[in-house]
Amino acid sequence: LSLKQRVFQAEIGEVEGIPFTKPMCSTWEQVWKFKARPEDLLIATYAKAGTTWTQEIVDMIQQNGDVEKCRRATTYRRHPFLEWSFQDSSAESYSGLELAEAMPSPRTIKTHLPVQLVPPSFWEQNCKIIYVARNAKDNLVSYYHFHRMNKGMPDPGTWEEFMEKFMTGKVLWGSWYDHVKGWWKAKDKHRILYLFYEDMKENPKQEIQKILKFLEKDVNQEVLNKILHNTSFEIMKENPMTNYTKEFQGIMDHSISPFMRKGVVGDWKNYFTVAQNKKFDEDYKKKMADTSLVFRTEL
Ligand code: A3P
Repeated sequence: LSLKQRVFQAEIGEVEGIPFTKPMCSTWEQVWKFKARPEDLLIATYAKAGTTWTQEIVDMIQQNGDVEKCRRATTYRRHPFLEWSFQDSSAESYSGLELAEAMPSPRTIKTHLPVQLVPPSFWEQNCKIIYVARNAKDNLVSYYHFHRMNKGMPDPGTWEEFMEKFMTGKVLWGSWYDHVKGWWKAKDKHRILYLFYEDMKENPKQEIQKILKFLEKDVNQEVLNKILHNTSFEIMKENPMTNYTKEFQGIMDHSISPFMRKGVVGDWKNYFTVAQNKKFDEDYKKKMADTSLVFRTEL
């Protein structure tokens, strides 16, 4: 995709030093003043860390395993994407804020905001938050492909160039390093369930049970197995309500790279050269020296 073919949303501004799309910048003041309600659940992630997967698990739990109810709308419409707003020339528009405001409680809201930019009312209302983190290398590879297939994102440039942008935090929603560390710190002071994509892959049943407990919900074995099955990568890839084929038509090109791309741990090995890996690891060590947070890059 050439730069010219990209839609205007691909233009980038900044809020508090964090790169945002222009529409996000222009609605930021309202987003910051968002009125959370005590029973709101926030699903927070760095982009491409497993947001959609977690959203589906949460919805399946909330709907008590009722697959039909979960298919009432796309992921994008079921759970308002708080800071996202979008308007394209073909008159498709979206405002996470408006969607959230119009939604009856209990709401589940998605965000990619770094912790310091979460609207204060979420803390004031003591809302439950589920944060999902994914190891930097796989997160980077996934983000790269997402930029390639999504005209609403800035041009990623070459793989090498995108890696550089990722390492310096010059990508939408900012530095992965600051994001995962900031939320990790916050979990000691707030009701945050901090999960890892790698754990979810390794033992999805166990991680779903953690979410159930956090949400103070109970389901029988049959329902638990149903949730497990319907939130598997294979099923979600074929589900039009979760695979993003019904939204962003003309914006997302799944023939370049599908939204439900691979869904594995360790795909980074197919992209990093030995030299790139060395450079990345050295830089990673420095950036992550001040945290107890540990990631697995393979299972
Ligand atoms: P890949 O690009 O590595 O395949 P997000 O929802 O935060 O945008 O994250 C998207 C990433 O999660 C993609 O990673 C996607 O394939 C993966 N994913 C989506 N659903 C999944 C599932 N049920 N199991 C495992 N991975 C899933």
